[in-house]
Amino acid sequence: MDFISPVWQKLLDPYTNKIFGDKKDKRIKLWQKILSELPDLKDKTVDLKSGVKINSNWESKDLTQTEDLLLKLLPWRKGPFSINEVFIDSEWKSNLKWDRFLKINLDLANKTILDVGSGNGYYGFRMLGLGAKEVLCLEPNLNHFVQFKAINHFVGSKKIRMLPERLESIQVDASYFEIIFSMGLLYHQRDPGQHLRLLASHLKEGGNIIIETIVTSKDYEDSLVPKKRYANMPNVRFVHTEKGLERLILDNGLEIVYSTDPVMTSIFEQRTTDWMPFKSFESAVLKGNPEITVEGYAAPSRKFVVLKIQNSRL
Ligand SMILES: C[S@@+](CC[C@H](N)C(=O)[O-])C[C@H]1O[C@@H](n2cnc3c(N)ncnc32)[C@H](O)[C@@H]1O
Repeated sequence: MDFISPVWQKLLDPYTNKIFGDKKDKRIKLWQKILSELPDLKDKTVDLKSGVKINSNWESKDLTQTEDLLLKLLPWRKGPFSINEVFIDSEWKSNLKWDRFLKINLDLANKTILDVGSGNGYYGFRMLGLGAKEVLCLEPNLNHFVQFKAINHFVGSKKIRMLPERLESIQVDASYFEIIFSMGLLYHQRDPGQHLRLLASHLKEGGNIIIETIVTSKDYEDSLVPKKRYANMPNVRFVHTEKGLERLILDNGLEIVYSTDPVMTSIFEQRTTDWMPFKSFESAVLKGNPEITVEGYAAPSRKFVVLKIQNSRL
């Protein structure tokens, strides 16, 4: 059976028998070895509803082996994941973003979903927990890709696949998705309007795009354009104001059907852990004032907007 459609299946085929397809990376041999040494769990239960949690009986050697192997896939940015006693305490408590999404009450049951810039697939697994029919993750970063492979070794779902490609490199001339997520991508785009139009080109009639992004203070006209870094992040091109975001959406043939209030990122949600031992949010904001970034900008607040294609464009 094809995943999503024959065209998408054709893009996935090179990765079916060869995990990394023709991708080049000096870590691939090591990653293949790690994946091949992960223990197989018997009689497991998988909970994707309250988190990403796998439970089974295993021996203590499996615990040490799993923990040692997964630690070699550092840094774990998104999570957490629980595999029996192994708790992958990722940099982001991604469950908090997911809880904010859940408040929107969007029905994902039986939906065909595209998650663009999916990271290691944490949210994709949670989408399956809400009954999604098929989830396709697009993620060009191979470290996130191998983490997805490791987690799905334990979850064992055929309803989720990851394609290690950028959205721009996908040539598919028909729309197959009822729901498309783009979370944490818009502010990295050189041309955010083109990103929205590309997402819309994959959306089935009547479907929704879910954007999660950073917004800034209304003191800026449409967007803040950081001189260098923003909150210590490289490649942040535009941080829109709420009004600027709305204008961008309307100018690109879409409209907002629902939007959430902005929520400030905190060191409770994003922080250094044993599974992501590098610099994190604590070095992104001023020590005495977490509302100001180290560059002197207003600290990041994140919000969701749910979009549909403007009726006049259908
Ligand atoms: C800030 S992270 C957000 C991850 C996740 N969506 C979340 O909200 O936590 C952005 C992700 O998008 C991926 N990415 C960047 N450009 C992309 C593109 N053009 N197409 C698909 N993914 C992209 C990056 O590799 C990275 O994993």
